[in-house]
Amino acid sequence: MAEKAKIAVLVSGGGTNLQALIDAERSGIIDSGEIVLVISNNEGAYALERAEKAGIEAHAVTKRAHGGQAGFEAAVRELLDSKGIDLIVLAGFLSILSEDFVKHYDHRIINIHPALIPSFCGPGYYGLKPHIAALERGVKVTGATVHYVNEIADGGEIISQKAVYIQDGDTPETLQRRVMEEAEWIILPQAVADICRGIVGA
Ligand code: GAR
Repeated sequence: MAEKAKIAVLVSGGGTNLQALIDAERSGIIDSGEIVLVISNNEGAYALERAEKAGIEAHAVTKRAHGGQAGFEAAVRELLDSKGIDLIVLAGFLSILSEDFVKHYDHRIINIHPALIPSFCGPGYYGLKPHIAALERGVKVTGATVHYVNEIADGGEIISQKAVYIQDGDTPETLQRRVMEEAEWIILPQAVADICRGIVGA
């Protein structure tokens, strides 16, 4: 095994979780892993700029350019395999991967979900939607979950969770921001750090 585990981060949008991972690598929280590749399924994602600013190889790979899901996944697999990636992190990656893809990388793909699974998760619950649903349901506590990715959307083994209190007057946007600040940006880098130590045997 290499001295450091090779990490790929898959993104779709703003990339604040990617930024948290970059910062955690820089500060030494992630001490046994190195982010070597960023892939976005959206060519306009600001996450791509964050990667470039950090000097990380970044690619936009779209379904449109590859004739649909199968071509898209083949292109992503080619990139991952050419870099010898050990761990794939879905950090705000808002596209569902096929059963074939996730089985190929069994227990090598993790995801951050902005709710306490099994609440507000599964198909259709992405981005702001889990927060809208949490406020509509009137729960008092929500949070974030890091989990392994399997063929069931948000159904894989849970790695870590952190709770966040809902406050009077919260909107989906204020809640999303607090869940990011108090939970996602903390538990995702920590999980990546722990898994990478396990991969390199540190
Ligand atoms: C984050 O809140 C992440 O948990 C969520 O999308 C946002 C992406 O923000 N992911 C999902 O909803 C996956 N089902 P970011 O691009 O700033 O990291």
